[in-house]
Amino acid sequence: MKRVALFVFLFYNLHANESGSLLFHGNCVTCHYELQDKSAPSMLHVRERYLQAFPKKEDFVAYMSTWVLHPNEEGSIMQDAIKKYELMPQLAFEKEVLEEITSYIYETDFKKNNKNNSY
Ligand code: HEC
Repeated sequence: MKRVALFVFLFYNLHANESGSLLFHGNCVTCHYELQDKSAPSMLHVRERYLQAFPKKEDFVAYMSTWVLHPNEEGSIMQDAIKKYELMPQLAFEKEVLEEITSYIYETDFKKNNKNNSY
């Protein structure tokens, strides 16, 4: 039993970044394009703003995943985006899943990711 748990743990860690990417693309990109501001600010912009406020990964991940769990105006660090697009709707995600997605966002240079297309 112990060995199974260890295996699952290792597997999870090795694939954390890949599944973060899949989860991000499956759930956030419908509204947040990587580079273009459309129906929501691009993830490039969201990431830039959050990096300014939270340069350390643990702070960035903790704040963003808590906010996305319960979007609210008071805790927003993008008040201008709420004025422009309205408050982001609440999505049904587990906190752990959001931590995975937000650490992927922290680690990802969206500009570099998109040399060949404009999304
Ligand atoms: C239904 C559309 C929609 C989806 C899906 C969506 N968002 Fe948003 N999001 C928005 C809009 C609109 C804003 C801008 C207004 C605001 O800040 O509330 C926003 C803002 C944000 C912000 C800035 C928060 C702030 O400080 O104001 C973060 C961070 C964010 N989204 C993360 C995510 C993540 C991560 C996902 C995927 C799990 C996601 N969003 C999925 C529409 C969406």
